[in-house]
Amino acid sequence: MRPSLPLSGLVTSVAAVNLYVSSYAGTITSLQLTQDTNGSYSLSQVAVNEDSAPNPSWLTKDEYNDIIYCVDEGLTVPNGSLASYKTSPSGELTKIDRHTVISGPVSSVVYNGGKGLALAHYSGSSVSSWSILPSGGTKLLQEFTFTLSKPGTDPDRQDAPHPHEALVDPTDSFIVVPDLGADLVRVFSIDHATSKLTESTPFNAVPGSGPRHGTFLVSGDTTYFFLVTELGNTLTSYTVTYGKGTLTFNEVFTSGIFGTKPTPEGAAAAECLLSPDKKFILTSTRNVTVFQIPNFDPTNSTLIPSDTVQSWAIDSCTGHLNFKQNAPAGGFFPRQFSVNKDGTLAAVGLQYDSRVVLIERDVKDGTFGKFVAEIDIPGQITSVIFDD
Ligand SMILES: *[C@@H]1O[C@H](CO)[C@@H](O)[C@H](O)[C@H]1NC(C)=O
Ligand SMILES: *[C@@H]1O[C@H](CO)[C@@H](O)[C@H](O)[C@H]1NC(C)=O
Ligand SMILES: *[C@@H]1O[C@H](CO)[C@@H](O)[C@H](O)[C@H]1NC(C)=O
Ligand SMILES: *[C@@H]1O[C@H](CO)[C@@H](O)[C@H](O)[C@H]1NC(C)=O
Repeated sequence: MRPSLPLSGLVTSVAAVNLYVSSYAGTITSLQLTQDTNGSYSLSQVAVNEDSAPNPSWLTKDEYNDIIYCVDEGLTVPNGSLASYKTSPSGELTKIDRHTVISGPVSSVVYNGGKGLALAHYSGSSVSSWSILPSGGTKLLQEFTFTLSKPGTDPDRQDAPHPHEALVDPTDSFIVVPDLGADLVRVFSIDHATSKLTESTPFNAVPGSGPRHGTFLVSGDTTYFFLVTELGNTLTSYTVTYGKGTLTFNEVFTSGIFGTKPTPEGAAAAECLLSPDKKFILTSTRNVTVFQIPNFDPTNSTLIPSDTVQSWAIDSCTGHLNFKQNAPAGGFFPRQFSVNKDGTLAAVGLQYDSRVVLIERDVKDGTFGKFVAEIDIPGQITSVIFDD
């Protein structure tokens, strides 16, 4: 954050924050978000990095260091890659190192107090663990590759295990991996001395549901896990019980991704986040253009078909979720989105519209409000994160 400098009305910017956007076009684009003294926001491109080509699929900000990890899915080549970048106040990224990895990484998470990084490999049916070096570079620790004895309920999408996200539990003692192909939530315990993972008993999700993304919440003595399934289009709450090297999940609530409304044909639920104040679950659903929104180009009268984001209020006593809102996401295929630290803005990557939008959030009632900034970025947008 930069302080306001009222120089005879010349400087109108009161705040600036960087965002990073990954695109299948082979780029990580650095954006600067500024807010003018009159309150209006704008997003501008400050740098484009092509070191993670061909297909950056996910960015993770290391909250322990000023490092960004980018996994590249390598869609048309045999392997993916993992790269580390040093961030800078200007938004420019400097590559630290890059490694070839098992094919198709789509998510990463920092664990063990900033010493470990876990990757979920969708097409490579694997989870890998990495040591984070003092330089911010990484070194391979372990690879776990999974198989299915027969295809799942949806043989097209469940031909093989497809780990879709790597998450760390709130005690930083377990890595949890929703597996879309195997209908599992895989569980690994963390060895704090070495950052090595030990595979534990997975949780069996509903057959054919396709677990995709999740998030944890600690409330008093209770730990909850919230899971979005992509094929079933559900949002489910579980209480989590800790054992010796194990986690047990007990369902306490489940709903279709549109609450009490029926899920539209073709829907593909995607993101699942906890709001920074821990009071709301925020989700996105692709391929459900139930909204037509005004064009972001004010001279263009053509409406834009828009997929959706959802807001759910958490009852922290029971883990039940109250569906609050289905709001326009800003275009087609909100594959991933993220929220700034104070929870006032959501940055949404619209994969098939090659667009990033910022949506205002009301932190009190948890709802999404109006679009406050927008920028077009070439290629399919795969993730957008704040560096705030
Ligand atoms: C706010 O100021 C900027 C210039 O600093 C201008 O482009 C924009 O139109 C203004 N917005 C409003 C709502 O007045
Ligand atoms: C490349 O990907 C293949 C298939 O996932 C895997 O078996 C192999 O180990 C990978 N190579 C490296 C260097 O990770
Ligand atoms: C979107 O949904 C339609 C059915 O409404 C389906 O035919 C199509 O394959 C879906 N597209 C994607 C990319 O999932
Ligand atoms: C107006 O917007 C539509 C929808 O985004 C787009 O397809 C069209 O190319 C735009 N027209 C012009 C002249 O920019």
